[in-house]
Amino acid sequence: MTEHDPAPHVEPTIAGIRRRVADARTRRARVGLVPTMGALHEGHLALVRRARELADLVVVSIFVNPLQFGPAEDLDRYPRTFDADLSALAGLADVVFAPEVGEMYPNGPTQTRITGGEAAASFEGASRPGHFDGMLTVVAKLLNIVRPDVALFGQKDAQQVFLVRQMVADLDLPVSIEAVPTVREHDGLALSSRNRYLDPPARRAALTLSAALRDAAAAASRGAAAVLAAGRARVDAEPAVKLDYLAVVDPRTFRSVDDTHRGAATVLIAARVGTTRLIDNASIVIG
Ligand code: PAF
Repeated sequence: MTEHDPAPHVEPTIAGIRRRVADARTRRARVGLVPTMGALHEGHLALVRRARELADLVVVSIFVNPLQFGPAEDLDRYPRTFDADLSALAGLADVVFAPEVGEMYPNGPTQTRITGGEAAASFEGASRPGHFDGMLTVVAKLLNIVRPDVALFGQKDAQQVFLVRQMVADLDLPVSIEAVPTVREHDGLALSSRNRYLDPPARRAALTLSAALRDAAAAASRGAAAVLAAGRARVDAEPAVKLDYLAVVDPRTFRSVDDTHRGAATVLIAARVGTTRLIDNASIVIG
């Protein structure tokens, strides 16, 4: 930020953000929404910069959504860095929609939930039961509150992007979903709000995830089984990394492919490095 960058306007209420968007619409503005839970890093800012290219009014929501945290996950421990987030958004976003929990859920957790079906039950959904229902429910609410022309999500959460697209198609929501490529550190580590929990040895070990994806991608011409074997060999060589899953899925269905699969595929990895759980993925072409 420079001293000349205008701070975004902070809007804590649903009525207020609706008024602001309605006002922009009278000027025929295209509206872009970047939903976040704050603790912003360069990966989020890449979404906001892309929103700037696609929209005239850029809205960033900052809301730590209790609905998507399981009972064993520490909602209170989730990093909250609101002032730093606002500074990072100066000159990039026009409005920050930052509601309190009581504004979004005035009657407690919603009775109505969006469920993602089969594709929400596997991978992240299997490790974090209820997470995707909570995520889809709040994204549906945010889309309905802001009514953007375009909403942007990071490709790092590939299953989230798939499920949001599926919801938008299934419910005929009038918004286009833009996935923005994962931003990485110079050494390949995918940016994540959780990287702040990695001490130097854990950070070194965490590079195993992106290295496993590179090894996996290098085996793509030999089929899905070879892709998995190459990725697994890399993880097995690093005892500090406990693999949760490594999978090759069809990006059209998010189902695991078998060894006969040819064409586009996504390699998914999730692992624990110490107490920190990390995910990453890579798009490959098999065959
Ligand atoms: O990816 C996230 O930060 C969250 O899942 C989202 C999309 C903001 C919904 O709470």
